[in-house]
Amino acid sequence: MTLRNESLTAAFDPRLFRENSQAAVAHLESHLSDLSVRGLELTDPVVLSEAARALMTTEQESVAPFDEKKLAAILELYVKTGIQVHSPGYMGRQFSGTVPLAGVIDFVSSVVNQPSSFYEAGQLPNVAERIMADELNRFIGWEAGRFAMVTTSGGSLANLTALLAARNRAFPGIWSRGETGGARPAIAVSEDVHYSVSRAAGVLGVGEAQIVRLPVNRSRQIRADRVRGALAAARDRNLKVFCLVASAGTTEIGAFDPIDELADVAAEDGTWLHVDGAHGASLLVSDRLRRKLRGVEKADSLTWDAHKMMFVPAPCTLLFYRQAHAALGAFRQRASYVFDEEPDAYHGFDGGDKNFECTKRPMIMPLWTLWAMYGRALFAEKIEYLCRLTQEAHRIISDDPDFETLHFPEANILCFRYRPDGVGDDHVHRLQLQIRNQVRVGGRFFISKVNIEGVAALRVVLMNHQINGEHFRMLVDEIKRVGAHLLTKRSGR
Ligand SMILES: Cc1ncc(COP(=O)(O)O)c(C=O)c1O
Repeated sequence: MTLRNESLTAAFDPRLFRENSQAAVAHLESHLSDLSVRGLELTDPVVLSEAARALMTTEQESVAPFDEKKLAAILELYVKTGIQVHSPGYMGRQFSGTVPLAGVIDFVSSVVNQPSSFYEAGQLPNVAERIMADELNRFIGWEAGRFAMVTTSGGSLANLTALLAARNRAFPGIWSRGETGGARPAIAVSEDVHYSVSRAAGVLGVGEAQIVRLPVNRSRQIRADRVRGALAAARDRNLKVFCLVASAGTTEIGAFDPIDELADVAAEDGTWLHVDGAHGASLLVSDRLRRKLRGVEKADSLTWDAHKMMFVPAPCTLLFYRQAHAALGAFRQRASYVFDEEPDAYHGFDGGDKNFECTKRPMIMPLWTLWAMYGRALFAEKIEYLCRLTQEAHRIISDDPDFETLHFPEANILCFRYRPDGVGDDHVHRLQLQIRNQVRVGGRFFISKVNIEGVAALRVVLMNHQINGEHFRMLVDEIKRVGAHLLTKRSGR
């Protein structure tokens, strides 16, 4: 018996699929062609909810007939209410306007729907993962055939997975019996480590008091000379540090911890070194910038977000392990429905035993396709441009007495404060928060903010090669206009 239902058949009609896709593509083409300076049109959530609810079908009993106008309205609403990541006004966060071809492949992924944790469900994605692992490992430098890579849904999950593998290596009895042999598991991290690392610690039962915070220097890099002492002090507290985490590109200012020196300390101590390169690992593909991650080949694991500086749709994270067997240490499960008792030739390509997800997007496909079609230079040239542009932005800020610079940019993140003469310590924090919010409401620029040593700063992340120095000057003018207005209002209180 076959289910015959005209409306159901119509919803799956390949011709309708083509028409819908063409409508979406035409809409996106004009969206991408619009290079006007704009940030975010922030909509009241109540108003947006109403607009979205108005698009819901009231039909409950049968499949609603297709409504072209409704689809057009959904597309319009979706595109319009997003942060305009392809515009030169977007300077705020670490996800990027994607290379358009990456979007095309992501769209194909959604249609062919090949979840990629197991080879049989995603053959090309699993092969592409291997190829990309080998390609990118050329810049990491691990022994071919001995390292491993899995993709994970985001850097936070990669950090958690790496910490899990590190913990299981240090405490062999913990997975099966929950035993730590009397010592309390601990990790050592920079003061500026991304919150996903301390969150992962919490998930692993490593309490706040078991997180050893390592001091940083003026460039906000971990002070390698202080790590031995910190580890010894931790031992005296009956803490066993199973993982030392270095950041390759901190979220706040894009600082790179001294991996080479930290690796030596970790090796001496028998501690796993994890490099959180969610933001900055992509600099490895540039001959000019690779040195920022000097020593990465000595690390045990590395998180690398391609949805940040490789300009592909989120999420796409690569988690590398120096030793393939360490990758298997993260999880130990029996599940007869997926893990075969008699592994065959295909099993070696499965990622399911090494990554957290069971069903997982074939997130490697956009990255692999770009790499296959354009090669490394697409990424290297864009990253180098963005880092040079950030240095130019730093010069512009340094030359303007109304601004306070806070660091030299090591990558494409720049933090600074608007602080003309007369703005006292008591007001500077609040002023930056107000400026950031007002600039966002203005809708022309989207920037972020961050606290540095407890005081707010404006934060710019340059992810778009269509931004130039002139655009940055326009942002500076906007900040000065908004800032001056806020100061006048305050003085007239
Ligand atoms: C240094 C660092 N680590 C980890 C993460 C978390 O990555 P994700 O957002 O992909 O989960 C971020 C995100 O901004 C980051 O900057």
